[in-house]
Amino acid sequence: MTATLPRYDRKQSYIWNYEHAPPTVEIDIPSLPGAWTFCGREVPSPLGIPAGPLLNGDWLLYYASLGFDVLTYKTVRSRARECYPLPNLEPVRVEGMMRGGESAIPATVSMQSSWAVSFGMPSKDPDIWRADVERTRNRLASEKILTVSVVGSVQPGWSIDDLAADYALCAQWAKESGADCVETNFSCPNVSTCDGQLYLQADASRTIAQAVRQSIGDLPYVIKIGHFTSDDGIAALVDAVHDQADGLAMTNSVAATVADGNNQLLFDGQPRGICGASILEASLAQVERFSRHIADRNAALEIVGVGGAGSADDVKRYLSAGAANVQLATAAMIDPLIAVKIRQAWT
Ligand SMILES: Cc1cc2nc3c(=O)[nH]c(=O)nc-3n(C[C@H](O)[C@H](O)[C@H](O)COP(=O)(O)O)c2cc1C
Repeated sequence: MTATLPRYDRKQSYIWNYEHAPPTVEIDIPSLPGAWTFCGREVPSPLGIPAGPLLNGDWLLYYASLGFDVLTYKTVRSRARECYPLPNLEPVRVEGMMRGGESAIPATVSMQSSWAVSFGMPSKDPDIWRADVERTRNRLASEKILTVSVVGSVQPGWSIDDLAADYALCAQWAKESGADCVETNFSCPNVSTCDGQLYLQADASRTIAQAVRQSIGDLPYVIKIGHFTSDDGIAALVDAVHDQADGLAMTNSVAATVADGNNQLLFDGQPRGICGASILEASLAQVERFSRHIADRNAALEIVGVGGAGSADDVKRYLSAGAANVQLATAAMIDPLIAVKIRQAWT
């Protein structure tokens, strides 16, 4: 049955895939026992898709029809941005599990279970995505959640306040278009230190989170973060954003450089985010660490578990580690029926 369901074609461009969203399907979706919530709203299941696979409203409605209940619209910006050239998804072979700090991971011809992701967060013009989000919310079943992921677009000479205003503008537009939740991607470079990532800088994260919160009122708000290699910085980040955001989604990916068969580095030697099964353990460990810190501080932050999940067991491990919801990107792109299979395997 899987073979008959259309999927993202990694050999084609982002634009080609954007224009070839599959139609929705009508299949039996087994219900998942239990009571589930996402940022205070009841949802039929904790199963979601993070920012990435859902390039536009048609992709979002396709995965909604396949048994996902919390659906994240791929990260958009306040201005149009081109996608990086192919390859956007380069399969890699990882021995064991990623821990962070790896380099020259070998690329492989066929997909095993992990890949390097290289899109550069492209975006359509705001007029296009705003209208598309509105149309999508109108078509999506009312019990499902539509989250819009946004990112600021740093311009030369900008301060952190300028960047915060840009994030806030996108967040406001997402809200006006009918989003049920806004997610800000903080796994991207800070303006003042171009090698630093926002989520690793508590003060900058707070400045942006405050601006976003002000622009969206009490709409659910989740911050997407990247990988922490140790406990350092976790308490500072929780303290900085817990009174602004409702949740933290982790882990975006684990960064590493990638090498071809001749040991030449791909992507001009720049690291890329490795996503898929090989980041499961690193991400689960991070969810555990954050849940401890959140509990210690009595902070009201929900965790969205992301990274490497591909089975009912993986989803349960995330829930046990402290996540309230679990989102699948790579596994859902490889097997569009994964939510149905997880529901069938749930006991
Ligand atoms: C095709 C693709 C595109 C992605 N694009 C984004 C993005 O635009 N914004 C973002 O925050 N994360 C993006 N990600 C990262 C995913 O949201 C997720 O954090 C990552 O894939 C780990 O989950 P997985 O192991 O289930 O794939 C992307 C991932 C993939 C596979």
